[in-house]
This record gives sequence, structure tokens and C-alpha cells, in this order.
Amino acid sequence: MTLQQIQEATDYLKQQTQNYQPDFGIILGTGLGSLAKDIDVAFTISYEHIPYFPVSTVEFHSGKLLFGTLSGKKVVCMQGRFHYYEGYTMQQVTFPVRVMKLLGIHTLFVSNAAGGMNPAFEVSDLMVINDHISFFLPQNPLTGPNLDTLGDRFPDMCDPYDLKLVEKALQIASQHGIKAHAGVYASVPGPQLETRAEYRLLRQLGADAVGMSTVPEIIVAHQMRLTCFGLSVITDMGIPENLEKADIQKIIAAAMKAEPGMTKIIKELLNSL
Ligand code: HPA
Repeated sequence: MTLQQIQEATDYLKQQTQNYQPDFGIILGTGLGSLAKDIDVAFTISYEHIPYFPVSTVEFHSGKLLFGTLSGKKVVCMQGRFHYYEGYTMQQVTFPVRVMKLLGIHTLFVSNAAGGMNPAFEVSDLMVINDHISFFLPQNPLTGPNLDTLGDRFPDMCDPYDLKLVEKALQIASQHGIKAHAGVYASVPGPQLETRAEYRLLRQLGADAVGMSTVPEIIVAHQMRLTCFGLSVITDMGIPENLEKADIQKIIAAAMKAEPGMTKIIKELLNSL
């Protein structure tokens, strides 16, 4: 990944969108699909047309970038994200974040589905991410020559998630009767879920939830000094003593149940900014 490739993708998007300049980036994970319906869309660009965007895998055919307004704010929204387990490198996974930065965003919202390990959590609760653990990832998106114009070689990771946004989100949740906790997200490569021993280990290390996305994007976004906000929907519980067989249908149903709350929080947060 070179600066020129990022610039080329950015130039293509500017040209296709009459120089639409978004202030906020949004990456929709499992459970936030319905937020896209609330965007007043001005331009839709399929990933396959964007130079250097990763080539789609079979299960990844609906990837689109939406440009438009949400809560009156100018947004660019990734409908569909790239995961390491699909076979992409971490540089490919995070390429769109680099492009969104060059398009002009100053704040990035990221959502995901995650397994809960904090015993106070329940399925379909939300977790506002206040910190993360990246050590289990097999690759780092910042490996390789550093693009010095975009960020530091050795970026700090002190508060990658904006703590003012964390507080605001928790306030919004409590005002609207949405069950949300703050917590630490541990990121793993997947695609298999965790064993009992792995959930126990992650919990002991201080994680409240675990999932297969988000952290690569946040590392890159924070390196480029974007303000970041992350929201997890707890789709299953990883409590070693009573672990149930993972059921993808149940996970999707749990994510869908939490969708209205997630959507409300993101829209109200945007409203307040
Ligand atoms: N582990 C990892 N990723 C996940 C989980 C989980 O339990 N649930 C949803 N995504």
C-alpha cells in the first residue's frame, strides 16, 4: 500500500461524487445494517469500482460506499467491511480508512458484533468500547514502510477511543432506556470462535468482549489522528462454565434486536457534534 494508491482511490471517489467532502466516516458491522437506511444518500459507489480496494470474496458481494447526510452531518459509510479471516492482509483491511481520511473525515464510527465475557453483560446489550487489546492479531496494519505524511512510525495508543464520546454515548443510552456498558474489546483473527480456555484467558487479561474486527481499523485511524468511536453489540456470551454451541442464526437475531439502540446512539451522537 502506497500513498499514491490511497490518493488514486481518493481522487476516483472525489470525481465520482462531485467532490463530496464528508466529515464523519462510519463502518457498519453486523448489527448496524439498518443505520444505512437512515442515511440520505447522495452517491453510492461499489467497492469493485474503486482503485486498489480489495477484490471481493464470494460472501462479500454487497460492499458499497455511501455518501450522504445522517442527522444533518456529511458522512461516508462503508456498508460491508473487510476482515482478516477472509484472506485480506491487514493493509487491505484498513485501506478504506486511509481513503476516508484523505476524503476529509475527522471522526470515525465503527460497529461490530462481539462475544461478551463480562458476566454483567447479556445477549443484545451494547458495549461502548473504551479500550482494546490487539496482541492476538497475527498481523499489524502499520507493519512496513511508514507513510510519514499520514502518521507517526510509533503512534501512541493512549485513548484511541475518544473518552468524551464514550461518556456521551452512555448518557444517550441511559436517556433512551438502552442497555449499554463501557468496556474493553479484544480482537482475534477468527474465523473460529473461542474455546472455553481462550474465553477464560481473555477475561483474565481484562477484556469484556471479543471479536474479529475493528481494532485494525482503529489502530490506523488513531495513527492518522482521527477521533474514534466504537460500539459492539453482544451477540453471544463467552462464559467458560456455561458455554453454548455457537449458532450463527442466534447471533444474527441478537444483533438485529440491538440494531435500533445502536442506530439511536450513533444518530444522537452525530446530532450532538
Ligand atoms: N468471539 C469472536 N468473535 C465474535 C464472537 C465471539 O464470541 N461473537 C461475535 N463475534
